[in-house]
Amino acid sequence: MDLKCIFSLAIFVSQISLLSTRNVNLVIQGATSIGEPDDKFGCLPMDRWDELNKFFNQTGVKVAFGLNALLGRNRSQIEKGLWGGNWKSQNARDFMKYTISKGYKVDSYEFGNQLSRAGMGASIEAEQYGKDIVVLKNLVKELHPDPKTQPKVLGPSGYHDETWFNSFLEVSGHDVVDGVTHHIYNLGPGHDPNMITKIQDPSYLNQVAQTYKGVLNIINKFKPQSGAWVFESGRALHGGAKDLSPTFADGF
Ligand SMILES: *[C@@H]1O[C@H](CO)[C@@H](O)[C@H](O)[C@H]1NC(C)=O
Ligand SMILES: *[C@@H]1O[C@H](CO)[C@@H](O)[C@H](O)[C@H]1NC(C)=O
Repeated sequence: MDLKCIFSLAIFVSQISLLSTRNVNLVIQGATSIGEPDDKFGCLPMDRWDELNKFFNQTGVKVAFGLNALLGRNRSQIEKGLWGGNWKSQNARDFMKYTISKGYKVDSYEFGNQLSRAGMGASIEAEQYGKDIVVLKNLVKELHPDPKTQPKVLGPSGYHDETWFNSFLEVSGHDVVDGVTHHIYNLGPGHDPNMITKIQDPSYLNQVAQTYKGVLNIINKFKPQSGAWVFESGRALHGGAKDLSPTFADGF
């Protein structure tokens, strides 16, 4: 067996009693290689996944596992940041099979991270993403035929963009996305020199209500039963605002 990295994933561990959700990028070894580890592409060996599951078992956390939704795609030659082509699901299949063989419980599979239109460096067209999440759903159903223990499928875990979210849910259709996930960083990039003004401006802070309303409207239209999940959240992006995030002012 080739022991190069094959699983490229992000993992989210949450527990009701924990206030924060950790987001760690992981790559796991497996049967077919997807790349060599480097600074941007870490490697999580299978025995590490085993160790993590010991930790999950002892702590009783629910695990939502973020799958790499860029596998198999190529960068667009025409539009910067856009990735095209179909998602390759073999890697996710290998991972799920291994996870099932070990008896590990995964509460939900999240498809990609911040790839909706207003992404962070990489994005996928909503139609393509909608088609691929159906592929993921079918894979999850095939490998977990018992509906009682079937992991949920979540997406897109990106910033809200009305047009993008609309097309995504329209294409994915009913009974595919169990939770419509989105990210909130309502103060914007942490390096903004005007951050202190934003923090103290109620009308600026109130703008986030529009985001919640927007997401709810779209979900009510397409998938009222799936619910809106805030899957990643903070005040300022990029690890917070220097000299402000750890202060009283950030409490506004
Ligand atoms: C931990 O593993 C044991 C043995 O497989 C199992 O009986 C128990 O239910 C697991 N605990 C949790 C919280 O998953
Ligand atoms: C991506 O590019 C590779 C190499 O040029 C090609 O073989 C492959 O078919 C392309 N995949 C898609 C999805 O366009």
